[in-house]
Amino acid sequence: MPTILEVKTPRLVTALPGPNAKRVLEQDAKFMSPSYTRDYPLVAKRGHGAIVEDVDGNSFLDFAAGIAVCSTGHCHPKVVAAIQKQAAELIHMSGTDFYYESMPQLAERLGRTMPGTESKKVFFTNSGTEAIEGAIKLARYATKRDKFIAFYGCFHGRSMGALSLTASKSTQRKGFGALLSGIEHIPFPYAYRCAHGHTAETCGAEILEQLEGQIFKRLFDPEDVAGIIIEPIQGEGGYVPAPKFFLQELQRICRQHGIMFVVDEVQSGMGRTGKWWTCEHAGIEPDILCSAKGIASGMPLGAIIARESVMRWKPGAHGTTFGGNPVCLAAALATMDLIETEYKENARHMGEYLFGRLADWTKNFKIIGDVRGRGLMVGIEIVRDQRTKEKAADLRNAIVDLAFHKGLLVLGAGENTIRLSPPLLIDQEQADFAVRTLEGCFREVEKKV
Ligand SMILES: Cc1ncc(COP(=O)(O)O)c(C=O)c1O
Repeated sequence: MPTILEVKTPRLVTALPGPNAKRVLEQDAKFMSPSYTRDYPLVAKRGHGAIVEDVDGNSFLDFAAGIAVCSTGHCHPKVVAAIQKQAAELIHMSGTDFYYESMPQLAERLGRTMPGTESKKVFFTNSGTEAIEGAIKLARYATKRDKFIAFYGCFHGRSMGALSLTASKSTQRKGFGALLSGIEHIPFPYAYRCAHGHTAETCGAEILEQLEGQIFKRLFDPEDVAGIIIEPIQGEGGYVPAPKFFLQELQRICRQHGIMFVVDEVQSGMGRTGKWWTCEHAGIEPDILCSAKGIASGMPLGAIIARESVMRWKPGAHGTTFGGNPVCLAAALATMDLIETEYKENARHMGEYLFGRLADWTKNFKIIGDVRGRGLMVGIEIVRDQRTKEKAADLRNAIVDLAFHKGLLVLGAGENTIRLSPPLLIDQEQADFAVRTLEGCFREVEKKV
């Protein structure tokens, strides 16, 4: 039997879930918080590249990458070596109170990737949520203002500050009481469902009019607004890209009123769309950029990267015990090497290849309403009827489950979208397998409609 190091496409050897998986699922049901949202019973044991093996020896092709985290694939030997070396040398010191070399090293490298000529400063966190939470504080601190504009459908995390910006699913807020005040949500430019019939390039002009003509006139004086925060491609909300002009106009509005332009690249960054950051495709220069997920290939790390003139808070204004832990930073430095030399370009190239193969899907399958995204961030929106665009969450869920039973791991996003977010190292054979498998799933599910 080939080992996980030798296989590139999946092989299923038991019914799913297998006997060992069933044991874990039983234990999990007894002891784990019921708030987790598992779509199907994958019980992972080991991973290599884009392949994950479960506890029963079944191997799967991973087009979810731990929610877009394992950017360099599972357990890349260079990342593993960096982690092992660092773990043997120094595991923890706390960058809040002490210095170590990798902190400014990684900060300098990250700062250089962020658009804009001004030097950047970096604060390291343990997660995307913490990066957003810190960005809220930084924007308030830098502007001495307290209000924010965010977007429906966007996801920025689940701590009370980040959750106040998140407007993805009401279950994420229900039962948790009052959140931060002074946050106004406006529609995200969702071209497929554009109320004004615009295209993917032009959708959103009316939203900007609403912001400037209504919100800034009737609700918030723009001089009270600390930040406008946006995901350049909505992740959890359904892999919806914001048009280039829309991001550029938001930047203009921010500059005009001294508002911090905060770009959440937690999911869309670190090479996933073929550049370090998706905002680069729009030629914009954020004041504050938040990263996490793919930054350290699975080790918990996030970063707030900001223009030097913005990140001027005083010692003690913000801190963390674990954020920027040396082992995570070592993983991030190795990850950046790999993304820089190979995987950013591979994400661009394989993204183009994938989108080429998916180009006819809305013609070939009547349950596919829209295929969108960029690079290796692909959203496939499932509808009951292409004409009415009725959202078909049940069909989407059936496809995700069926794909699992055929050895392909994908996740849902939004109410009725399938997201493909594979590791950035996938090759053509793996992309072809994913395409063939999904086409098989669409055909099977379509027959039942
Ligand atoms: C765009 C975006 N921002 C923030 C977060 C929160 O990150 P984390 O789950 O690492 O706290 C996520 C997580 O999915 C995300 O996709």
